[in-house]
Amino acid sequence: MTNNLFNKLSDNQISNINKIILDQINTPVEMLNNACAHLITSGGKRIRPRFAIIMAGLLDKTLVNDEAFARTAAAIELLHTATLLHDDVIDESQLRRGKPSTNNLFGNYVAVLGGDYLFAKVYTLALYNNKNILLNEFSRAVTTLVEGEISQMDNIADINLSEKEYFKVIYAKTSILFEVAAKLPGYILDIDDDKINLLAEYGIAIGNAFQIVDDVLDYTATEQTLGKDIGNDLEENKITLPLIYCLQSLDNEKDITEFKQAIKDKNIKLINDFIKKTNSIEKCLTKAKSMIGEAFQKLNIFNDNEYKDALLELNNLIINRDY
Ligand code: IPE
Ligand code: IPE
Ligand code: MG
Ligand code: MG
Ligand code: MG
Repeated sequence: MTNNLFNKLSDNQISNINKIILDQINTPVEMLNNACAHLITSGGKRIRPRFAIIMAGLLDKTLVNDEAFARTAAAIELLHTATLLHDDVIDESQLRRGKPSTNNLFGNYVAVLGGDYLFAKVYTLALYNNKNILLNEFSRAVTTLVEGEISQMDNIADINLSEKEYFKVIYAKTSILFEVAAKLPGYILDIDDDKINLLAEYGIAIGNAFQIVDDVLDYTATEQTLGKDIGNDLEENKITLPLIYCLQSLDNEKDITEFKQAIKDKNIKLINDFIKKTNSIEKCLTKAKSMIGEAFQKLNIFNDNEYKDALLELNNLIINRDY
């Protein structure tokens, strides 16, 4: 996902945002500094703050280089970082961004408390714009993220999980952050609610597509390219869209029983055969594409500029990414 307009138009601001984030990691407790810095400096696409920057450029180019806005965009990435610290503990993941996860290196105790530390710093950064609505958005994001992770746990091993329930969970655990990123510039510029809603809709569509592709990559990627454990979802009995579409496509009892048993047995080879036979990966990607397309069309009320071109590029990058 490098060398494209979406990244080019946000690279300078991201260097600044990386500095802003690192400046927040300033505790005298060395182990806490090391644990947080480990993840922050280990790479990462920075897609959420980049998205906020490009959405800002769509609305008003002068906002792109505004320092208070940069701090709010940094808050989004910091919030994402905190969720990764907790997520790898919950998922018992050993690999993140091609490196040992923080829980792997420092243990669960430090990873969980490191995440808490970063959650608090999110609010320090979000204060810079002096707008209560932004604090409220960050608070809504954190509570929704927790609801998402708990609902996901509640749904574990539910082989008949509906598509609707799946979308509820991914909104809460992933799309909410893209929604907030998309709305931030709108709130800072005080634009009308109608317009804010269109930004939110597009942010949610991008977030949904992003998580659908993440769930697809959990079946199709290699650990080396993805930089994190693969096959984790099946291992943890998580029913994601490739499995839901696969089950929907099977039309005889024998296949259905065999497929459900394969999920219970974590028989990845058999599951992959079924996924292939039913074109379930293609169905997931088609769904992701159509969600983005529909929401993007409604942004036609905003004037065309290079930032809108970058969004058009992003629509494809999200679908075609391999890490
Ligand atoms: C991983 O997010 C968590 C999901 C919501 C799927 P990213 O894929 O954006 O992770 P980094 O920040 O680039 O490592
Ligand atoms: C993504 O869930 C949501 C969050 C990180 C909160 P995953 O558990 O699928 O994310 P990865 O695949 O570990 O990055
Ligand atoms: Mg998880
Ligand atoms: Mg995970
Ligand atoms: Mg995943």
